Amino acid sequence: MQSVRIRKGLSTDLQKVSEIHIRAWKSAYKGILPDEMLDQLNLGRRIQGWQMILEKEQGQLFVLEVGEELVGFTHIEAARDKDLDVKNVGEMTSIYLEPESVGRGFGKALLEYSLDKLRQSHFTQMSLWVLKDNKLAIDFYERNGFVFDGTQFVDPDRGFVSHRYIRHL
Ligand SMILES: CC(C)(COP(=O)(O)OP(=O)(O)OC[C@H]1O[C@@H](n2cnc3c(N)ncnc32)[C@H](O)[C@@H]1OP(=O)(O)O)[C@@H](O)C(=O)NCCC(=O)NCCS
Repeated sequence: MQSVRIRKGLSTDLQKVSEIHIRAWKSAYKGILPDEMLDQLNLGRRIQGWQMILEKEQGQLFVLEVGEELVGFTHIEAARDKDLDVKNVGEMTSIYLEPESVGRGFGKALLEYSLDKLRQSHFTQMSLWVLKDNKLAIDFYERNGFVFDGTQFVDPDRGFVSHRYIRHL
């Protein structure tokens, strides 16, 4: 059996991280976000975005490898929402798997790892945003103890709706 390992994400991982990011969006958000938006996702821009996050040391990026293959990642930082207490609430801004690797427990492993990292930094809660129609992810979050806190965001340009979920650590 191949080993599963989670480690800090490095700049040398960003090509693969960004490829997974785009493939996961195209797979998970098909029918939720407009096709033309998914068709316009750009690998170069995505890599630049992640590079900036690493350079600014904005939060922490973690990657999951199965054997030698990077198949998923997560990113956490202090909560970005102004109405949350940034000293106590950490946010998981991303959790994405290669579409073929969904449903094998890797999402749970990345989530548990992220929760542990927030606990080590003395956070007491985790928040996250999810598209309200992303049923697979919402089921995953609810199975793992997250609750919709009643806060929603409506994208001003395209109208899609995201919900905020919270759980105690
Ligand atoms: C959200 C996401 C990371 C969750 O990962 P996941 O693989 O779906 O979730 P899990 O890790 O809990 O795995 C789920 C299944 O694997 C099964 N599984 C198989 N082997 C397992 C193992 N060794 N350990 C745990 N579960 C295992 C579980 O039984 C579970 O199936 P079930 O719930 O039908 O019984 C993943 O679905 C994903 O990348 N989605 C697309 C991107 C996305 O929407 N991200 C969220 C943006 S807000």
